[in-house]
Amino acid sequence: MNMAEVEYNDSQWRLLDLPHDWAIEGSFSADNPSGAGGGALPGGVGWYRKHFRVKDVCKYFLEFDGVYMNSIVFVNGEMVNFRPYGYSSFVVDITRYLRCSDNVIAVRVDNSDQPNSRWYSGCGIYRHVWLTKTEYVHVKQWGLYVETDAKSGLVKVKTEVAGKGYTVQYSMTDAAGREVAKGTGIPANSNKTVLHVNPASVKLWSPAKPYIYKVRARVLIKGKVVDEVTTTTAFRDFRFDAKTGFWLNGKNMKLNGVCEHHDFGCLGAAVREDALHRKLKKLKAMGVNAIRSSHNPPAPELLNMCDTMGFIVMDESFDMWRRRKTQNDYARFFDKWHERDLVDMVLRDRNHPCILMWSIGNEVLEQWSSADADTLTLEQANLILNAGHDASTLAKDGEKSVNTMLAEHLADIIRRLDTSRPITAGCNEPSPNNHLFKGNALDIIGFNYHHQWIKDVPQNFPGRPFIMTESVSALQTNGYYRMPSDSVYIAPRDWRETYKDSTYMCSAYDNMHAPWSSTHEETWDVVKHTPYVGGQFIWTGFDYLGEPTPYGFPARSSYFGIIDLAGQPKDVYYMYESEWTNKPVLYLFPHWNWQEGQEIDMWCYYSQADEVELFINGKSQGVRRKTARTGQPIDGSALNTPYHVGWRVKFEPGEVMVIARKGGKTTLYQKIHTAGAPHHIRLDIDYKGKELTFVQATVVDKNGNRCPLADNQLRFKATGGSVIATDNGCQTSMERFTSPWRKAFFGRCIAVVKGKGELTVSADGLVSNKIRF
Ligand code: GAL
Repeated sequence: MNMAEVEYNDSQWRLLDLPHDWAIEGSFSADNPSGAGGGALPGGVGWYRKHFRVKDVCKYFLEFDGVYMNSIVFVNGEMVNFRPYGYSSFVVDITRYLRCSDNVIAVRVDNSDQPNSRWYSGCGIYRHVWLTKTEYVHVKQWGLYVETDAKSGLVKVKTEVAGKGYTVQYSMTDAAGREVAKGTGIPANSNKTVLHVNPASVKLWSPAKPYIYKVRARVLIKGKVVDEVTTTTAFRDFRFDAKTGFWLNGKNMKLNGVCEHHDFGCLGAAVREDALHRKLKKLKAMGVNAIRSSHNPPAPELLNMCDTMGFIVMDESFDMWRRRKTQNDYARFFDKWHERDLVDMVLRDRNHPCILMWSIGNEVLEQWSSADADTLTLEQANLILNAGHDASTLAKDGEKSVNTMLAEHLADIIRRLDTSRPITAGCNEPSPNNHLFKGNALDIIGFNYHHQWIKDVPQNFPGRPFIMTESVSALQTNGYYRMPSDSVYIAPRDWRETYKDSTYMCSAYDNMHAPWSSTHEETWDVVKHTPYVGGQFIWTGFDYLGEPTPYGFPARSSYFGIIDLAGQPKDVYYMYESEWTNKPVLYLFPHWNWQEGQEIDMWCYYSQADEVELFINGKSQGVRRKTARTGQPIDGSALNTPYHVGWRVKFEPGEVMVIARKGGKTTLYQKIHTAGAPHHIRLDIDYKGKELTFVQATVVDKNGNRCPLADNQLRFKATGGSVIATDNGCQTSMERFTSPWRKAFFGRCIAVVKGKGELTVSADGLVSNKIRF
């Protein structure tokens, strides 16, 4: 019998909680059709069933925040919805399919046509689902629309209501819950309702002070409330200027952004608010103020948190239009579905104050008139996207190409629904003859990479604002270092080559990157010192599953992150902290466990100090200062740049120490000791959420020093709660993410536990340890 049928016997099925991602529970394999680019985890078809009863006769809506992909929803055996795009939210009015007895919702999810993504997508109902009950007269989905004006304090509100004979009452409250404005709308003037907030009292929203208001709309019939919806809103005043970059609330600032995919490493794609909050907290502490939801609409929870935690968001729709990048991707649905998907993105998201720009696409192949990724493998496609294209594929003067018109068509769909935000696209063709740059589609010119072309932007795009929609793509394994550190390693040298290195690791000094990209420092230097660059979105904040450039299987997750897949910062995190925050920073690396006499490069990131000095076993190795912009060493070390200083020293066991001085006084110091043999395991709470706790385990010697080369097999056991996942940030680990054991990687790993209880960690030959969570 068909699994959609009411009578189908599902009594033996596994009970699970949504959101859910079945792929993350699987084993890595080179044979999984998603390929290493998709995380080397399974795809396939999955079914979900839910039984429930309804008593009264009302309206019932089923809202799905996201199902990857090709979902078909059945209610009591009848098909009620089909949605191919795995990142769109959708609602189904299920009222007329319901019965006043047992009801069965069955959802078929089909992620079997692979590959269909350049990164790990996850499989299943991986975002929340809501069953909403309303009266016959009710606010339609995403029906409340609020637009604010920071200067005048005017707030335009509009509510789409199904039914007749109602009025809408609005109430706006500030962050303390005090009412600051109210008003009434009737169907005839529902377009025109304006609330007045005293402009003198308006508090502005910014990443530093994300001041939030709420607007509540109550639908009344004869004085009785029949429906009520509330949305978050805020006042902010922003613009992108062709000469001076980005301005928020009258202040010139840079978008110090990162691109993020949607997965949570070992937890997969299933939305977990705790994992999301942990991610954002770490990015915030580093000084990040903007996020690009690459390359698709994000979970609503991400936008909610960005509103309240203070992140500017670029909300992006697609990674491809009509021309596909992988065999079975969204391109096959684009013609039929793009309008619906784009409209739904804007309707769902336009009330979020955090969103300051829309993106109509990432590196779409329509930038050129012919660019063929169709016949390539997934790995080659990722590389070719960034290879140069023949000038004959660019727009001709005076001609308006189909691709230019397609870009305008997409931008117009957005402008129909929102004119308060600029539109951009992530473009890796920097020529002004890129088809997307022609016409009126883009309010902001956005480059992916190509920082060498930035000097020509004013001349190539006169009068048009500019940002780096994507940048950097440096490659790093947390804990691994390739010397000499002042040589830059490009991997592969050319996109046509296969890169091979038996370690499957990339260097965590900022000295390794992909052929189309650049080091963190090199890129930031251009962004920082070019006034017309509004900012950048670094590829990426966190490592993610899939796309393990420059390697193939067994590598199965990315090297691009500033923070590794387990959520542990890589060293360059502290470079950004020193540049982007007001915290005094002193950060020395790498570790101090090498071969006697080996020549080692020690790097140091610092801020708010005049100079730093390194000591090995008490002997000074010299004072260092960061160089001025020119890159000329000012104190004899070729390792100094405007962003870090370095010493080339001979290793001897013991202690290495760095001190920072300001005005002649020592302000900060940091010591690293040579670690002895692994002795016990330290446990620290890395993040404690409402449901999940992330515990970091570190293999240490008898004095508590981290053993930076330790790879002991650790075993976790929880009493009271449960261990739901483990990870160590290693891109080639084949241990299942759901397993309660994990090898330490450069001495560390993470266990994710659920509920409340006690976590024990043990390993052969080491003293075990416990921690309460
Ligand atoms: C970009 C692309 C990203 C990612 C990145 C890796 O070209 O937009 O999705 O593939 O390259 O460097």
